[in-house]
Amino acid sequence: MASSIFNFLLTFLALSNLVFLSQSQATSAPFKPDGLALPVFKDSATGLHITNITKRTPQQSIPLLIDLNGKFLWLNCEKNYLSSTYLAPFCHSTQCSRFGSHSCNKCFSTTPRPGCHNNTCAVTTTNPLTSQTATSEVAQDSLSIQSITQSGSNFGPFVTIRHFLFACSPSSLLQGPFPNNIQGVAGLAHGSVSLPIQLASHFGFPRQFSLCLPSSSQKNGAIYFGTSGLNGTHTGNLTYTPIIIGSQGEYFIPVRSIRVNNRPVPLNHSSLISTRTRNFGGGMISTTAPYTALEHNIFTTFTQFFANQSSGVSQVNPISPFGLCFNSSNSSSTNVPNIDFVMQNKNVTWTIVGTNSVVEARPGVSCLAFVDGGQNPKAPIVIGVYQLEDNFVEFDLVRSRLGVSSSLLSRNTSCSNFNFTSKSSFVNEME
Ligand SMILES: *[C@@H]1O[C@H](CO)[C@@H](O)[C@H](O)[C@H]1NC(C)=O
Ligand SMILES: *[C@@H]1O[C@H](CO)[C@@H](O)[C@H](O)[C@H]1NC(C)=O
Ligand SMILES: *[C@@H]1O[C@H](CO)[C@@H](O)[C@H](O)[C@H]1NC(C)=O
Ligand SMILES: *[C@@H]1O[C@H](CO)[C@@H](O)[C@H](O)[C@H]1NC(C)=O
Ligand SMILES: *[C@@H]1O[C@H](CO)[C@@H](O)[C@H](O)[C@H]1NC(C)=O
Ligand SMILES: *[C@@H]1O[C@H](CO)[C@@H](O)[C@H](O)[C@H]1NC(C)=O
Ligand SMILES: *[C@@H]1O[C@H](CO)[C@@H](O)[C@H](O)[C@H]1NC(C)=O
Ligand SMILES: *[C@@H]1O[C@H](CO)[C@@H](O)[C@H](O)[C@H]1NC(C)=O
Ligand SMILES: *[C@@H]1O[C@H](CO)[C@@H](O)[C@H](O)[C@H]1NC(C)=O
Ligand SMILES: *[C@@H]1O[C@H](CO)[C@@H](O)[C@H](O)[C@H]1NC(C)=O
Ligand SMILES: *[C@@H]1O[C@H](CO)[C@@H](O)[C@H](O)[C@H]1NC(C)=O
Repeated sequence: MASSIFNFLLTFLALSNLVFLSQSQATSAPFKPDGLALPVFKDSATGLHITNITKRTPQQSIPLLIDLNGKFLWLNCEKNYLSSTYLAPFCHSTQCSRFGSHSCNKCFSTTPRPGCHNNTCAVTTTNPLTSQTATSEVAQDSLSIQSITQSGSNFGPFVTIRHFLFACSPSSLLQGPFPNNIQGVAGLAHGSVSLPIQLASHFGFPRQFSLCLPSSSQKNGAIYFGTSGLNGTHTGNLTYTPIIIGSQGEYFIPVRSIRVNNRPVPLNHSSLISTRTRNFGGGMISTTAPYTALEHNIFTTFTQFFANQSSGVSQVNPISPFGLCFNSSNSSSTNVPNIDFVMQNKNVTWTIVGTNSVVEARPGVSCLAFVDGGQNPKAPIVIGVYQLEDNFVEFDLVRSRLGVSSSLLSRNTSCSNFNFTSKSSFVNEME
């Protein structure tokens, strides 16, 4: 009897606790954003794109390279990492297994510092520009990001995740052709701890994000999480194609053929098949390749075909790394033939217009902005950033599809049409 009363009391306490919790959530409900946005800047020296992420306590703005195929966020912790909220989970903890890390870190220094503790967990981190690797400590710290409210109608306040998971790397890993001042890499790949997946799980919005990379280094573009941009970011419909996820979380799409000026480039069908995606099709999307790279034989055929379709324009000696260049005095982005990547069927195309296919390599010389990917590239076609700029590209991981607008300039808009508000308003998340 006594024990049943005791049980009743326990149950009652547990229930009232639940009621209390839900009430406290209702009365001081944490602000729940409909989506999030990060500003994106183009580095004119490398053509690559950067985002500034607000992290740590006190908050600091940290410039990171955007890597669509990176599995997580990593940064240099060896230099000036000061934060009162830094936390490194113990090895074999749930955070470590979420990161896919099953090994324990060892720090040979006598004084612990961010990135260097004993019995935390270790992960192998890869530099996307050099493929160099290093062992990094799995860590957590606060991250703040601008919200989008009212179903994508406007920017809202900044929201904070207190325990964002990332990898804390040695500074030696940041060697390579990075934009100046870069402190790490923001990985957007399909993986349990990549930036879009952590944000979606934390805030409970759909696993969906969109890239809108700016073509100008003067005005920012954006990455949107959880919504399809802001209203008016792209007007009109997107063209959708299936996405397949590679073994490392990379994004592939089926490019079955290429057309120039509406005429098919005479490519060997088998050359467009990627063995890495079980015969799915040859396109991988990358934000660490400045220009689209084509497998060597595809590159040769494509370049010759493009030259023939542009026969009115005088060619000049190509400038490395390009294979075909023209005298700019009688070629402009408006008289360049369109290039179509034909996807799952002939009606579904990603059209590359002149602003995304021709680049002024030197004053007076414009070049076809495609490069030779060699004999054994990661995919027959690696679609690079120059071809992504001013295109709205939506990664819908719920429906496993990619939506693309083609050039927003032909819809009289661009990726630089929205001003981010200043960081005045913060909403601190409750936990
Ligand atoms: C990004 O952050 C760095 C370091 O805080 C700062 O120097 C730079 O001006 C920021 N860039 C932009 C475009 O806000
Ligand atoms: C880690 O442990 C080793 C001994 O196994 C010790 O020499 C070293 O100082 C420790 N490092 C830290 C940061 O505690
Ligand atoms: C989106 O549309 C709403 C209503 O039309 C408007 O109030 C809001 O300012 C728009 N947002 C942006 C960022 O243009
Ligand atoms: C957009 O797609 C919807 C539904 O598929 C269709 O009804 C509409 O006509 C399309 N609009 C344009 C501008 O193509
Ligand atoms: C197409 O590829 C096959 C096998 O790789 C090769 O034997 C054939 O010569 C190629 N055809 C052309 C037109 O390049
Ligand atoms: C160039 O195109 C013309 C027709 O557009 C075609 O007759 C000719 O064979 C092509 N030349 C090459 C080298 O592809
Ligand atoms: C471009 O210039 C070349 C040589 O100056 C000339 O032969 C050709 O007709 C010009 N093409 C156009 C489209 O103006
Ligand atoms: C481009 O054409 C103009 C006029 O035909 C000529 O003066 C100039 O030297 C050419 N430029 C190159 C790089 O060939
Ligand atoms: C492509 O579009 C044409 C014309 O709209 C249509 O007749 C055809 O069935 C479509 N093909 C596919 C594979 O959807
Ligand atoms: C874009 O603007 C130009 C000139 O302002 C206009 O001629 C064209 O129709 C517009 N295009 C669209 C898709 O609104
Ligand atoms: C963005 O800001 C710039 C300068 O601060 C201003 O000229 C421009 O009109 C703004 N654009 C929008 C869409 O508000």
